[in-house]
Amino acid sequence: MSTVTVSLAGRSYDIVIGPALIDRVGELSARLLSSRRVIVVTDETVAPLYGARVYQSFKNANVDAAIVVVPAGESSKEFASFERLMNALLDRRPDRKTALVALGGGVVGDLTGFAAATLLRGVDFLQIPTTLLAQVDSSVGGKTGLNTRHGKNLIGAFYQPRLVLADTEVLDTLPRRELLAGYAEVAKYGLIDDAAFWAWCEQNGAAMMAGDPARRTYAIEQSCRAKARIVAADERETTDLRALLNLGHTFGHALEAETGFGPELLHGEAVGAGMALAFDLSAELGLCPAEDAARVRRHLAAVGLPVRLRGIGGDNSRSWDATRLIEHMRGDKKAEAGKLTFILARGIGKTFVSRQVEEAALHRLLDRAIAA
Ligand SMILES: NC(=O)c1ccc[n+]([C@@H]2O[C@H](COP(=O)([O-])OP(=O)(O)OC[C@H]3O[C@@H](n4cnc5c(N)ncnc54)[C@H](O)[C@@H]3O)[C@@H](O)[C@H]2O)c1
Ligand SMILES: [Zn+2]
Repeated sequence: MSTVTVSLAGRSYDIVIGPALIDRVGELSARLLSSRRVIVVTDETVAPLYGARVYQSFKNANVDAAIVVVPAGESSKEFASFERLMNALLDRRPDRKTALVALGGGVVGDLTGFAAATLLRGVDFLQIPTTLLAQVDSSVGGKTGLNTRHGKNLIGAFYQPRLVLADTEVLDTLPRRELLAGYAEVAKYGLIDDAAFWAWCEQNGAAMMAGDPARRTYAIEQSCRAKARIVAADERETTDLRALLNLGHTFGHALEAETGFGPELLHGEAVGAGMALAFDLSAELGLCPAEDAARVRRHLAAVGLPVRLRGIGGDNSRSWDATRLIEHMRGDKKAEAGKLTFILARGIGKTFVSRQVEEAALHRLLDRAIAA
């Protein structure tokens, strides 16, 4: 078991990482709770897998836990779902001391976090992230959010949990594709500023995904440490520092927009392909050794992430178009005044923010990636 502290003035909290923590949530959170009542929010897939264990763990610690179940999937972050959740929570007559517990992936985490920020003007919340992506990314940093027809995560609040428990064993039931998608975000931390961690990933990534508990704990710990360090320095994304977390995301967003933000291409898969493209672009611009870009592509492909545009969607039938992809990039909420922002690299672990990529170079790169 290991602990990462997220240091924020007055609102610091711990992320505890290790096996079988689900069964210890009552014991580990009891001293943080203001009352003996919690409401657990989870989804239809996670509830039958882990709901009873979380309930029992709270019961053993004399904490009364109610459980509210929402549908699995991104639709639970819509306004209408949020309204249903808030009414379901209010039906259980919470008071200001009742804590919410998010048990699930990033969807449940974002939804429950925003519910906690607004229920009775703010109640405490705990996170038990059950996907790799949620353990290494969405549960760290305090961003909560809902989707609207104008785009994803455009409504939300920065709202920090009191405690995060990342149980490495719950990943055993996660579909392989979801596990891999989360792994892209793990590898991202190495590429951003930690070449040693990237090298660790090359050596150990496959074994950690296969289930090795020590490697899982280490990978999640390193990821949370990396994100926590950046978040502590730049909680509200006011400098370029937090922007580095968007490595691969400008390209990834365009790929997701083109594939409809649906099951054809998961977010983490898009980020994996996007990181490979960001390193290719850096090499093309003469910023980064070609061998580093090749290493990125090689490892992500070796673990099974779809890094070739042709392979995305599985049937080689999609016809990508560079102009359309660039249009999607301009539509990204991270594009400031039409200027495309890229995280580029001078090598593995040496990334920086660039707002001056020439469109012609970008076009050339995408044409080549589409043809490859
Ligand atoms: N707040 C942030 O900083 C932040 C960062 C990144 C992503 N996000 C958000 O996170 C969401 C994506 O999160 P996600 O990838 O975890 O998706 P998700 O929550 O939809 O989970 C993916 C699927 O796995 C299932 N599942 C979860 N845990 C499982 C387990 N242990 N075993 C079996 N099945 C399990 C879920 O029911 C769901 O069907 C997006 O809405 C995204 O916007 C937020
Ligand atoms: Zn991401």
